[in-house]
Amino acid sequence: MIILKLGGSVITDKTKEYTFKTETMDKLAQNIKKANKQTIIVHGAGSFGHILAKKYELNQGYKRLEQIKGFSLTHEKVQALNSLVLKSLQNNDIHAVSISPHSSMTLNNHEMQKMDYKIFEEYLKKNFTPVTFGDVVLDKTLGFSICSGDLLIEVLSKYFKPEKVVFVIDEDGIYTANPKIDKKAKLNKETTVKELETLTTTADNHADVTGGMAGKIQTIKKIAKNSIETILVNGNKPDRLYKVLVGEKTISTIVTGEK
Ligand code: IPE
Repeated sequence: MIILKLGGSVITDKTKEYTFKTETMDKLAQNIKKANKQTIIVHGAGSFGHILAKKYELNQGYKRLEQIKGFSLTHEKVQALNSLVLKSLQNNDIHAVSISPHSSMTLNNHEMQKMDYKIFEEYLKKNFTPVTFGDVVLDKTLGFSICSGDLLIEVLSKYFKPEKVVFVIDEDGIYTANPKIDKKAKLNKETTVKELETLTTTADNHADVTGGMAGKIQTIKKIAKNSIETILVNGNKPDRLYKVLVGEKTISTIVTGEK
């Protein structure tokens, strides 16, 4: 089984509110179908979540009444994005079923507190493709906060021990520096957790309440510590995702798990 994260910056335009990249999503869905692997799909919120979450400071917990409105609005938007993702998967004959974090998971100070892994197991057993996503959730100490797709990937991979975890991002992989700023940045085709520790990648500069690339590197480190291989691949070149899923060589970053 493979756990897949479709990054918010791949399936949405992160700079423009509520813009879904239908064509990109459809091509990714086609390639997921073609690879014919059992998967759990997690997707990010992109411009359906981050802009509102930042405006209402939802990741800082419940501090003022107005945030309730923000929570509700964000929840509706990420759910709408989830429907668009589901539709695209279904159009490509992937029998996707949504598992919403806001109604099935709780956090405790940003860490996973309650998560129903059995429900994922049951759907997988029946050959469904479970789809979950970055969402607003209840938090035991903070009142509420944000459950990022990366946190979901982290706990799901710890529980399911997939053959690999794939992050579909909007760059070719992990670079030696931020490729959006530094022209000399080189792609790290293969790397280890130890090498990642020394990396100087800066977080993206658009509204990202869950840590951008720097946060992702922290997540990958945690996955690799469970000796699971993690691959980062460019979602704007969907054939590369196919190759990664079936185990063929392509342009990507492979982070080997720690033994
Ligand atoms: C964020 O999810 C969820 C909300 C802002 C509500 P992610 O952190 O997984 O989203 P992306 O991939 O960065 O867009």
